[in-house]
Amino acid sequence: MTPLSTVLHTSRFVLRRWQGLLCQVQIPLHEFNKASFASNSNQETKSRGYGATVLAIGGIATAAGVYYFIEGTKRQHLQNASKELGNVSAGGFKCGLPTYTLDEVATHASKEDGIWVTFRQGVYDITNFVDQHPGGHEKISMAAGGSVEPFWLLYGVHKTPGVLAILEKYRIGNLSEEEASVSIADMEDPYAFEPRRHPALKPSNLKPFNAEPPMTLLVDSFITPSDLFYVRNHLPVPEVDEKSYSLEVSGLCVKNSSFNLEDLKKFPKYSVTATIQCAGNRRSEMVNVKPVKGLNWGQAAIGNATWSGARLIDVLKASGFKDNNLKVQHIQFEGLDTDSAHVPYGASIPAEKALDPRGDVILAYEMNGQPIPKDHGFPVRVIVPGIVGARNVKWLGRIVVSEVESDSHWQQNDYKGFSPSVDWDTVDFSKAPAIQELPVVSAICEPLEGATVKLENNKLVVRGYAWSGGGRRIIRVDVTADGGKTWHVADFTDQNDSKVPYHWAWTLWKAEIPVTQNVKKVEIWAKAVDSSYNVQPERFENIWNLRGVCGNAYHRVNVNIK
Ligand SMILES: *[C@@H]1O[C@H](CO)[C@@H](O)[C@H](O)[C@H]1NC(C)=O
Ligand SMILES: *[C@@H]1O[C@H](CO)[C@@H](O)[C@H](O)[C@H]1NC(C)=O
Ligand SMILES: *[C@@H]1O[C@H](CO)[C@@H](O)[C@H](O)[C@H]1NC(C)=O
Ligand SMILES: *[C@@H]1O[C@H](CO)[C@@H](O)[C@H](O)[C@H]1NC(C)=O
Ligand SMILES: *[C@@H]1O[C@H](CO)[C@@H](O)[C@H](O)[C@H]1NC(C)=O
Ligand SMILES: *[C@@H]1O[C@H](CO)[C@@H](O)[C@H](O)[C@H]1NC(C)=O
Repeated sequence: MTPLSTVLHTSRFVLRRWQGLLCQVQIPLHEFNKASFASNSNQETKSRGYGATVLAIGGIATAAGVYYFIEGTKRQHLQNASKELGNVSAGGFKCGLPTYTLDEVATHASKEDGIWVTFRQGVYDITNFVDQHPGGHEKISMAAGGSVEPFWLLYGVHKTPGVLAILEKYRIGNLSEEEASVSIADMEDPYAFEPRRHPALKPSNLKPFNAEPPMTLLVDSFITPSDLFYVRNHLPVPEVDEKSYSLEVSGLCVKNSSFNLEDLKKFPKYSVTATIQCAGNRRSEMVNVKPVKGLNWGQAAIGNATWSGARLIDVLKASGFKDNNLKVQHIQFEGLDTDSAHVPYGASIPAEKALDPRGDVILAYEMNGQPIPKDHGFPVRVIVPGIVGARNVKWLGRIVVSEVESDSHWQQNDYKGFSPSVDWDTVDFSKAPAIQELPVVSAICEPLEGATVKLENNKLVVRGYAWSGGGRRIIRVDVTADGGKTWHVADFTDQNDSKVPYHWAWTLWKAEIPVTQNVKKVEIWAKAVDSSYNVQPERFENIWNLRGVCGNAYHRVNVNIK
């Protein structure tokens, strides 16, 4: 360790100890902040007193000061919150109560299972309260299985000691300290700088954050609003200062170059409307065949947005690149997000895609006309239309022109498909190519599984999305409600007019299916066909793979008819 890092480490440790104390004895936050440094240096000065020690303490104090300064905003936020609430004991530890995990809390999201919510470190069973909620039971039920805090940001009326006192009456347990640190400060936590997310996003994992929006929102809007766009992070969100941001370019046939954000904005600005999908979209259906390793995504790990920025090819040319060297086979990307060993997220795409002037690969600094949000790669994300989300590297820090693929874990040992017979004992990741273009897919967004629906003129109205990778267009979506005896061709309600193979956006569709009278239950199936006449496979059984990727079997939804 260098002297500076030792000093930083020590000061962090001291701070953490104080914070630990804070949690145990529940000193109000603002008092803690005033007190901590005074008492810290008093103690140290008494016990030692030599010049060197004083210097060391000075060093610690300075480093801690710097650290504190960096942490300042967050601390202020908490301080402000505690001032507003006037009573910081609500949501703190309570002895004698069981500890629950967020997963356990999440299983209590209905009247049958009980309605649980969290606030800071508190877990509450509010089943008997929801009907008394002045704002109506629908609103409060939206927080079921999760935290009430994001809702309280929306509805400031809750931030009073009176409301907290009511909440504490329903206290049943504690959240584990680790999981509660999402809302209480933990200065060692690499996730401390995660952005606040919209509560409508349903997480499949919190650290790193992964979440998808409710299905019905997808078909309500051609463009998925950025705040409701699915989030797939592999590592903590990095804190990137746009003023010191620098994108490095190196490798074959280029001069080592770097570009700051202003430099990138000087290139001609291109906008691309592209759908991005996670390779694991619809994994939750594949697991019904057999368990897989991976986050349990529903059908909404997909979204359509307009991305704007500089073309990759323009930036490479500005670095001296001429596309006349056949050795150039892959363009590698590295993110600024790193694991605990400082290894960055990485991926690569084939040179043919990267260098195609019509391929629309851009270094985007805007999403839907605004600076890219933190969760989506602020300040720069490479957008590779038609290619799996995992290669659309966020927080882009480096581009390497190369003969070979990225050697990153995510390129070599993840995001690959295998035969249904391959298991974790027999898998050889070197034997399968990395996923680039995704296969044709569709999903029914309305009605939802298990819904009770009313017919319109004896017809069932079904809406959904369809998309295919590699710039292929959707040419047809077939829907059936009688197990395939009769198929109905859906109408496209929205489709971009771009030509194949440069068609990047999804297609939204709607079908009206006649249903025989007195039928009380139906299973709806949907399948899409793309411009290469690829069609979705019928069942997940035959496409099952151990990582649960490329899940594109017919989408099936069971509904009750009113
Ligand atoms: C906290 O409150 C102070 C004064 O009330 C305000 O200036 C500051 O911006 C607030 N900080 C945050 C992070 O909300
Ligand atoms: C703080 O909240 C508790 C309920 O958790 C309540 O009993 C107590 O009176 C409150 N104290 C103040 C000062 O509001
Ligand atoms: C409440 O949870 C905290 C954090 O896990 C734990 O330290 C505490 O012991 C729990 N309370 C009890 C005693 O059940
Ligand atoms: C260019 O950058 C790469 C990667 O950082 C480095 O390994 C190489 O030494 C640099 N080359 C020159 C000529 O500076
Ligand atoms: C289709 O998408 C492209 C950008 O990818 C855009 O320029 C064009 O205007 C879109 N067309 C329609 C009809 O929305
Ligand atoms: C995707 O969103 C863009 C606007 O960002 C819109 O122009 C385009 O039509 C959308 N594509 C589809 C088919 O949803």
